[in-house]
Amino acid sequence: MRRDFAQWRQAVQAEMEATLLTFLPPASEPPARLHQAMHYAVLDGGKRVRPLLVYAAGELFDADAQSMARAAAAVEMIHAYSLVHDDMPCMDDDALRRGKPTVHKQFDEATALLVGDALQAQAFTILTQGNAEPARKVAMLSTLALASGSRGMCGGQAIDLAAVGQALSLAELEQMHKLKTGALLEAAVMLGALSGKTLLAAEVAALQAYSAAVGLAFQVVDDILDATADSATLGKTAGKDAANNKPTYVSHLGLEASQVLAEKLRLDAHRALLPFGDGAERLRELADLIVQRRT
Ligand code: IPE
Ligand code: IPE
Ligand code: MG
Ligand code: MG
Ligand code: MG
Repeated sequence: MRRDFAQWRQAVQAEMEATLLTFLPPASEPPARLHQAMHYAVLDGGKRVRPLLVYAAGELFDADAQSMARAAAAVEMIHAYSLVHDDMPCMDDDALRRGKPTVHKQFDEATALLVGDALQAQAFTILTQGNAEPARKVAMLSTLALASGSRGMCGGQAIDLAAVGQALSLAELEQMHKLKTGALLEAAVMLGALSGKTLLAAEVAALQAYSAAVGLAFQVVDDILDATADSATLGKTAGKDAANNKPTYVSHLGLEASQVLAEKLRLDAHRALLPFGDGAERLRELADLIVQRRT
């Protein structure tokens, strides 16, 4: 019998914890302080939404388990690196992440910088290893690299920093969110699919429509939660966007219209999955989780 979503999610999260540990250098290996900080940044925390997207898309296309595990660990390491750098004093200057002191608080700024650099390198290393055919590995590497760089996450972060105190147009805000957060979520879906059987062009287009909707929805909801939830629930400092004078969906549209938009994007994501029928149930459930989450 098919496991329900909560059980499936728990199983993937538990497997991810073990997989991430395998793909990190041992914490005792010199330089031990750097390796300890990498463990601190990656393990024991986070919702693991990007790995869940890898597995949900992978399972739809009969993906190889080893390949999915590598893809999920790689995208989660890029995400963890982005959080470590995002929290540094030169960016959002945050002291709390995943319910713990941020890496630069627990260790120091130089270590936080190096943790991000090393996690990024490790993510790509993981994708070069394993038994997948070389062409598939190259496709995965280029998908993750594009999503991480200046035309993806880093580009979005640059726009975010330049936008402090600015009034962005709705189109500019959307572009910033799609890059800083959407790009990695989209890559997660494509990496899952790339772990499985070869896709038809129409299937790629449907997956892209789905992941564009959930990618934007994720950051719209992140903006909503920053304005409405408390720090203990979020495991990070609530109210930080207003304190840092960041343009967000909430500051631009207001709370209610942001909630309406998130719901619209959830339905867009569901619609994009219609061609896949029942097989896309996990992806549908993840769209619901991304929009209806409280943390
Ligand atoms: C937070 O991401 C940063 C954004 C991209 C909005 P998550 O909400 O996925 O953070 P974790 O991994 O669960 O801590
Ligand atoms: C972060 O956006 C996006 C990336 C880390 C790439 P935020 O700055 O809104 O994320 P949080 O709210 O600190 O998790
Ligand atoms: Mg930020
Ligand atoms: Mg931040
Ligand atoms: Mg935020």
